[in-house]
Amino acid sequence: MFYRAINIFILTIILSSCGNVEEKINNKNIAVVDIPKELNFNEHISEIIYTKCASCHRPGESGPFSLLSYKDVYRRKKTIVKVTHSGYMPPWPADRNYSSFVGELYLTDKEKLLIKNWVAQGAKEGPSTLKKSPPTFPSGSQLGKPDLVIKFPKAYKIEGNNKDHYVIMKVPYEIPEDKYVKVIEYVPGNRKRVHHVNGYLVVYNEGKKKNLNAGAFYVNNYETNPKEVWKKLDVLNDDGSFPVRIPSATNYLPGVIPPVYPDGIGGFMMKKKGHILLNDIHYGPTPKDELDASYFNVFFTDIAPERKFGEFQLGTYGLSKIEPALMIPPDSIKTFTSKYTVQNDISIVTINPHMHLLGKSFIAYALTPDGQNIPLIKIDKWDFRWQYFYTFKKMQVLPKGSTIYVKATFDNTKNNPHNPFNPPRWVGENEGSMSTKDEMLQFIVTYLDYKIGDENLVLGDK
Ligand code: HEC
Repeated sequence: MFYRAINIFILTIILSSCGNVEEKINNKNIAVVDIPKELNFNEHISEIIYTKCASCHRPGESGPFSLLSYKDVYRRKKTIVKVTHSGYMPPWPADRNYSSFVGELYLTDKEKLLIKNWVAQGAKEGPSTLKKSPPTFPSGSQLGKPDLVIKFPKAYKIEGNNKDHYVIMKVPYEIPEDKYVKVIEYVPGNRKRVHHVNGYLVVYNEGKKKNLNAGAFYVNNYETNPKEVWKKLDVLNDDGSFPVRIPSATNYLPGVIPPVYPDGIGGFMMKKKGHILLNDIHYGPTPKDELDASYFNVFFTDIAPERKFGEFQLGTYGLSKIEPALMIPPDSIKTFTSKYTVQNDISIVTINPHMHLLGKSFIAYALTPDGQNIPLIKIDKWDFRWQYFYTFKKMQVLPKGSTIYVKATFDNTKNNPHNPFNPPRWVGENEGSMSTKDEMLQFIVTYLDYKIGDENLVLGDK
């Protein structure tokens, strides 16, 4: 009798503490089970914030404020509900129902609902016995102990004029002997200001380059064509030819851990002399002058990169033309396409859609010769800030003769809050200028020549 009473008592607690309700999230009704009725931060919310937000929302990181304590979160609770429900945070522009990638940032519907209901109930802290410690993050490297650290030759001064800065910068290095590299990790000096980085490795064959330190340390934006920029930086071979370039040797976006591929895949040779050429580095606006002294952690390997990455791109500077030509009239929303047929069987590793401030939406897919449609990426709401290099969880194989289709829409109206011109003006490619006030449409594909079994090779998911 006593036990039965206890059982009923426990059962009542379970029943009364769980709501099995239909809730509207992103305009779709979802049945949500096991949502406790009485929510508190320590028990139900802190873990979500710590695992899904704290990597960027902590001191010195890119997020504009910390979310490492109850107080931090309480203070921003209304905005947090708003940005998590709209999908603005955590930032991940790609549609996860279309294709999936390593390291996706997202909240589940249940997590969104927990946050919303918690705030609606008054955002209580809960019992201190259930308090979880905020996470700690490694400083210096997210991957371990590097074999080599390459520092900026001097700090870059970010001018305090409240403007974005796009800079092309060279960082020279010299090592005693040629080495295979597994991964190069970029570590921002000024985490608040560095928004993204895309870097080449430029290496010189024996005798091709005497002085690594001649020329400019950096050039602002792409005002001229790439060869002019390379001349100003003095990174061409001494005979004026282009040196060996390894594209996307290092990339950075806040919150992203650089992918480390299985042995023998994607590594490259670092010659004795070379540069890491940041092809661009984007600094966010600041009201007063600030400095950035970033560095690179290099991880060597003895295993030769048996399978090297290839890279091609559609659109601006690429293998395929944009149709119609990329000219966007003022006060218009206009769509452009580009397509390219692959000549061999390939295994796609990473893709990177690229547009500037007028970008509105982007989709890429492939059609195989036998008519199969392979979804690559869909971004309904382009966000210039978050241009990830999207790595597939498993390589996406495209048989020879498959055609990749890209369709991109630009919004050159004054309703686009990022429009650099008011009133809107004609905007186009402007002789290949990479200035953010000009537009670009690119789809960059990093791939391997296909090998049997690639479709099952897991590239990782952290
Ligand atoms: C990858 C880094 C990153 C992650 C992860 C991230 N944020 Fe942010 N968050 C930012 C940055 C950067 C901004 C500044 C806004 C901008 O420029 O896009 C921001 C802005 C915000 C804002 C202010 C929005 C506004 O309109 O003022 C809120 C609130 C916020 N984030 C909450 C969250 C929450 C909650 C999570 C986890 C669910 C989260 N963020 C995860 C980087 C991140």
